Amino acid sequence: MTAARATALFDQLASVYDEILPFFTGFGQQHMEWLAPVHGTRVLDLGAGRGALTGAALARGCRVTAVDCAPGMIERISAQYPEIHEARLMDAHQLDLPDNSFDLVCAGFVVHLLDDPAAAAREIRRVLTPGGVFSFSVPGPVEDAPEWEFYSALFREFQPLIPAGEGRLSRPLDAERFLATAGFTGLGRTAIEQRLPVPDADTFWNWGLSHGSRAYIDALPADARTEFEARVRAELSTMDPIVFAAGACLWRGTSPA
Ligand SMILES: C[S@@+](CC[C@H](N)C(=O)[O-])C[C@H]1O[C@@H](n2cnc3c(N)ncnc32)[C@H](O)[C@@H]1O
Repeated sequence: MTAARATALFDQLASVYDEILPFFTGFGQQHMEWLAPVHGTRVLDLGAGRGALTGAALARGCRVTAVDCAPGMIERISAQYPEIHEARLMDAHQLDLPDNSFDLVCAGFVVHLLDDPAAAAREIRRVLTPGGVFSFSVPGPVEDAPEWEFYSALFREFQPLIPAGEGRLSRPLDAERFLATAGFTGLGRTAIEQRLPVPDADTFWNWGLSHGSRAYIDALPADARTEFEARVRAELSTMDPIVFAAGACLWRGTSPA
């Protein structure tokens, strides 16, 4: 069910996704710097979105295949990156790609959205060459930014108002266990952060409507949504300037030879 919801949501958001603040682009660049693939590396960007990781990998001279379940994302990534090897509509759980065909599979903010991460991991193992690397990002904590604790606290506070089966697309993921159970070895992780200047409260609110949190906001009953927005704007009104602090955790593992 989540796969259908994810496809519909991200297809609807494709024209604005990562356009309002360069949130995913910034994390994608840091992620690719951490992986540091050499020129010519065969990269699969799984759940590529608008190409945060694709763009960073192409800039390093990699040969990139991007796949996503949302047609709007694939149309835009093809148009934005004509140098891409392939951009194809595909479900991460069932990859229409040959065995042993990639040196690196990367997934930015995708694995925790999947219905069956273990099934996707089996497909990733299949398409990776022995000794190839799988790496993914998930949202993570940010240091020294107490002024932003209100944002996740609000999401927790309003969660009980959302009808069962609606709202967030993400699920809890034990990343280390997920990688180890799927048979990846030599596991590594690192934490990264961004500080993004935000011109005004409207920009921040519109950013929240332009990515996965839109599913949560749209699932709030009308009066709760009005209150949620008012509470966000009230907190932002105390900040001058507004500088959004956000964190992510990067994981990697190697496919055994
Ligand atoms: C939060 S966005 C991340 C996009 C991009 N990786 C980035 O870092 O900006 C999640 C993306 O995963 C895609 N996605 C979600 N479930 C998927 C699935 N089962 N198969 C393929 N793509 C999927 C969505 O369409 C969306 O583009």
